[in-house]
Amino acid sequence: MAKKAMETHNLTVKQSYYCLFLSIFVIISFQASFSEAETHYHEFVIQAKPVRRLCRTHNTITVNGLFPGPTLEVRDGDTLVIKAINNARYNVTLHWHGIRQMRNPWADGPDRVTQCPIQPGRSYTYQYTIENQEGTLWWHAHSRWLRATVYGALIIYPKLGSPYPFAMPRREIPILLGEWWDSNPMDVLRLADFTGAAPNVSDAYTINGQPGDLYRCSKQETMRFPVDSGETILLRVINSGMNQELFFAVASHRLTVVAVDAAYTKPFTTSFIMIGPGQTTDVLLTADQTPAHYYMAAHAYSSANAPFDNTTTTAILEYKSAPCNAKKGKSSTPIFPQLPGFNDTNSAIAFTSRLRSPSKVKVPLQIDENLFFTVGLGLINCTNPNSPRCQGPNGTRFAASINNVSFVLPTRNSLMQAYYQGQTGVFTTDFPPVPPVQFDYTGNVSRGLWQPVKATKLYKLKFGARVQIVYQDTSIISVEDHPMHLHGYHFAVVGSGFGNFNPQTDPAKFNLIDPPYRNTIGNPPGGWVAIRFEADNPGIWMMHCHLDSHLNWGLSMAFLVENGVGKLQSVQPPPLDLPQC
Ligand code: C2O
Repeated sequence: MAKKAMETHNLTVKQSYYCLFLSIFVIISFQASFSEAETHYHEFVIQAKPVRRLCRTHNTITVNGLFPGPTLEVRDGDTLVIKAINNARYNVTLHWHGIRQMRNPWADGPDRVTQCPIQPGRSYTYQYTIENQEGTLWWHAHSRWLRATVYGALIIYPKLGSPYPFAMPRREIPILLGEWWDSNPMDVLRLADFTGAAPNVSDAYTINGQPGDLYRCSKQETMRFPVDSGETILLRVINSGMNQELFFAVASHRLTVVAVDAAYTKPFTTSFIMIGPGQTTDVLLTADQTPAHYYMAAHAYSSANAPFDNTTTTAILEYKSAPCNAKKGKSSTPIFPQLPGFNDTNSAIAFTSRLRSPSKVKVPLQIDENLFFTVGLGLINCTNPNSPRCQGPNGTRFAASINNVSFVLPTRNSLMQAYYQGQTGVFTTDFPPVPPVQFDYTGNVSRGLWQPVKATKLYKLKFGARVQIVYQDTSIISVEDHPMHLHGYHFAVVGSGFGNFNPQTDPAKFNLIDPPYRNTIGNPPGGWVAIRFEADNPGIWMMHCHLDSHLNWGLSMAFLVENGVGKLQSVQPPPLDLPQC
């Protein structure tokens, strides 16, 4: 094109015109080459690595020896090609939490759902393209409890030339909130699986892998974030913890929420956020306070009547212009933020209910599939309650379920591979759309209704079906906020409330104008939450509680979204290196 333009150009044109023309051409071609999508190649070597925390060293499973793992930075439209090489002693898979993976469940990652695990010594290449998504997501292992240490941030910038819908921040900081066990997390899970009791709670929370000043042997390595007075920074907060919703705040600073789960929100300011495992929250912070050191801190929001890790993780926001004595640590204890109390459900709900999409959104108004899912815990009775395998309450084993089905992963094959190959006997598609028995879900539930049924049941959706799910918490054992995560989709959160959902009166109060979009939403403890989405992504997609203790007890199911008839409405063929079981 350049050549042709120059040939046809009148040679008598004045030099200056020529220069102007050339420079415009250079600018245009420069932009064109940069607005093209890129392909990012990475190698993720899953390997054990000594990591020292809380005065003790553990042989921790990591990616490339890093804890937390590497941050992926891409733009909308880019393609990622990540070769996962398993040099650890466990089976492993990787999940790209929140990526829609259109028609490409093969890259989604949940063990035995969309793939068989990558066995020790083997590898698998995850390849996928970001389609119309921007913001903060993350990646994590999706096999047993490996995600306790195998996780990292996945940041999607807008396409080149398209700005954020807010003033460009001077700095961006990913804040990965995690949970640390002073033992091997895989052993914690194995013990819980054996005894049937609840797994041990974590020993520390972490910010970018560091517990912070309030824990033994940690102070030297507390995360410090230097800032210039007056600048605005974007904190990309990710709850990569295993089992705990968290409150997070920065001393003396207001936070302006601008996005959750890689979807922009109407900005609002708050003094704290509540964030459940799996969720992300982007907040702007302006360094407009007296130059000094300020703690950022996170501790539990614990909605259940159950033991929890009640410690507090901290990092330090350091104004570069803070007085010297503060820098040397003399009489310079950073200012501490106020966090809501551990069981402050009112604050948690008040925060979540402020979220809105920036403007009117296209949420399904007609519903083809009206699903009502009870979510909660349960107990499996034992024939011998004194057995060492029945150390749950009163000689039982803990379980959890959706509509009384406690999900069991298949062993012979993954669900998606079995479906694609037409292999029968791996799953059934009779997952119940409503609970088998109606009862007062949040009242005093009779003991006869506490025991779920174990099964591998999927729910079939026609391509394009408009779906509503109401998640109804139950008070079986305890009410609790369950952060429900749907793979392959994001959904509009149209309503929520306490008590039992009332299908006659509650839908009238739904927000069908500007509901927030998310990939993970918690129900209020002893309440319900309603979501809507259109089933436009064929494949098998897991839906589960993102508290890994509950996931392990069966608080999970999967949707089978059938292929459509049109072009780009069918699942792609699987990659050749897809692991076999
Ligand atoms: Cu972030 Cu199924 O997980």
